[in-house]
Amino acid sequence: MTKSMPFNTSDIPDLNCRVALITGGHSGLGLATTTALAAKNAKVYIASRSVAKAEEAIRGIRRRLPNAQIEVIEMDLGDLRSVKKGAEDFLRRESKLHILINNAGIMCTPFSLTPQNREIQLATNYLSHFLLSSLLLPTLLSTSAPRVVNVASDGHKKLAPKQGVMFEDMNLENKGTWTRYGHSKLCNVLHARALAKRYGGEGLVSVSLHPGTVKTNLSAGPRKSTPIYKLIQPLVEWGAPGPEEGCANIIWCAVSTGLGELVKGDEGVNGCYFEPVGKLKGVSDAGKDDEMAERLWEWSEETLKRDGLFT
Ligand SMILES: NC(=O)c1ccc[n+]([C@@H]2O[C@H](COP(=O)([O-])OP(=O)(O)OC[C@H]3O[C@@H](n4cnc5c(N)ncnc54)[C@H](OP(=O)(O)O)[C@@H]3O)[C@@H](O)[C@H]2O)c1
Repeated sequence: MTKSMPFNTSDIPDLNCRVALITGGHSGLGLATTTALAAKNAKVYIASRSVAKAEEAIRGIRRRLPNAQIEVIEMDLGDLRSVKKGAEDFLRRESKLHILINNAGIMCTPFSLTPQNREIQLATNYLSHFLLSSLLLPTLLSTSAPRVVNVASDGHKKLAPKQGVMFEDMNLENKGTWTRYGHSKLCNVLHARALAKRYGGEGLVSVSLHPGTVKTNLSAGPRKSTPIYKLIQPLVEWGAPGPEEGCANIIWCAVSTGLGELVKGDEGVNGCYFEPVGKLKGVSDAGKDDEMAERLWEWSEETLKRDGLFT
């Protein structure tokens, strides 16, 4: 698939009265996205594990945009109990949610387990976002023209196991950390697909994306887990933009009228995966496997129910 829409900032509508929630909105691509949405008058909630870091980021944004409407939700995506608490906090404060951006992530961190015994990348990048989206779904569906944007990665094609989601071994303890990253990002792609399939008929637009290679703090993970990465990092990031430029595809997916038009013209676009900027791109074979997406949805719900986090 090569359909694409040109990106132009005039394509970003005024977002007055629109509510957005973005995980990891205080740094990297998340901060740049928060700033761009706030500049267009959206009310933006930053879900962050560090209230202090988020407040610091808000102070920085307000120096440029004194009237920016930004609030903090405390949420550690590495602990599903904290995700539930954060979602409940948001729901106490808002009755509408137009844009949910599942952005926060870690890449290629050393193997470790969360309090729920889930591998840290799967839990942070995928399962926590599945829980968050599920808890916010009724509110999204009661809002006009809601969007869910999963910040995935083209790593879902290159790094995930060829077979796709490894239901018998979700923690992938005996695989490499790059495989675990790709696996978690494949789950982001399939989640966007399943959301669109289930709720597209109710007006929800849900997509996944690759932001491009962008210079951010994401490299902290591979620098720890993969000694050679320190040497090759300058090559990997050669010519890569910083977050202000690199967030363009996230913004496009979150608010562009262009995406709305694409979905209106072809419902099959809902649930798809975009590369910068606004380019509808093919996914891996696993990434377009609707049966796998559905099985992942069921696995995720069962897991969360077993953990007592979802009814
Ligand atoms: N940069 C790239 O080239 C690139 C390429 C492909 C995909 N992506 C994806 O883009 C997304 C954003 O990454 P980035 O490049 O902006 O990296 P980043 O600068 O490292 O930002 C990641 C964000 O995720 C947050 N986060 C990590 N663990 C968390 C947790 N347990 N609970 C709550 N928040 C947590 C971080 O918060 P803390 O400050 O608390 O750590 C930070 O705000 C990720 O999903 C990444 O996989 C990036």
